Amino acid sequence: MTDRRTRYPGPITQAATHPHTLVEQGFAEDAALAATLDRYPPELFDINLYDYDEAGQVSLRTGARGRLSGAELLEAIKQGRLWVNLRQVETGWPELWKAAMKEFAAIQAAYPGMRAVKTAGQLILSSPKARVPYHFDAAGVVLFHLRGRKRLFVYPGDEAHLPERNMEQVVARQTTEELPYDLAFERDAQVMDLEPGRALTWPLYAPHRVENLDRFCVSLSMDFQTWPSRFRNGALFTNAVIRSRGGAPRFTDGMATPELAARWAASLALKRAGALKSRIAHFERDFEPEVGAADGAGALGR
Ligand SMILES: [Fe+2]
Repeated sequence: MTDRRTRYPGPITQAATHPHTLVEQGFAEDAALAATLDRYPPELFDINLYDYDEAGQVSLRTGARGRLSGAELLEAIKQGRLWVNLRQVETGWPELWKAAMKEFAAIQAAYPGMRAVKTAGQLILSSPKARVPYHFDAAGVVLFHLRGRKRLFVYPGDEAHLPERNMEQVVARQTTEELPYDLAFERDAQVMDLEPGRALTWPLYAPHRVENLDRFCVSLSMDFQTWPSRFRNGALFTNAVIRSRGGAPRFTDGMATPELAARWAASLALKRAGALKSRIAHFERDFEPEVGAADGAGALGR
């Protein structure tokens, strides 16, 4: 298949998997995970619980780290319906990060012209029935799968599935909303099942969602910026500012590199000047993980 599934340039034209060896290196075993949870800084946890209505629209509850030991938290995730994200693996679990960067180099080599200038990692531990809603990442992503099975749905990166207006809002942190989602999009999904030992990547910005296939799952999500993605994110930010002032910016996919670079440079100045404040409030937590509670979500402690 040679069709590009995205309107944005980049060497990755469609979702594809690659092998990795992080499982053999022991990073997905219970003891290693429990020890990591025990020592991981509480402020680097995101704990989410997603619910969906019949139209596929999501609602989100968020959890506090709480007081469970690493082993108990692991058990709560295995029993519950939780999605637990540990940010900044590069500092939180440097041994895993070092091994993953080696694997990343091998995958990057499969895409001539791809050169990451910045990378960051999130370790995701999720319950057997957890599902991640339709969204896009303003970065390239390599999802190293370590344990369990998950199904990835990757959609075309065109205006119908990925409206630039929504991209601007996300890049400028004006909303916590995900992209608009319609069940009719399912006809357009590229569906990939991910097994331990495989790493999945997809075109820059391609919208996607995830369903766990009835097993506790562990994945390392590595996101990366290239110069082209940095330019485009900057251009999207500048466009968000223009739009907030009543303008109607052109689509970035109609812009050549010099114009994207100019808009990226403008975004740096606009950010310094505080042109658009983040509207993402520090929201209240709804629950605390608890072994044996419904969905693994217990009452907040005090
Ligand atoms: Fe994602």
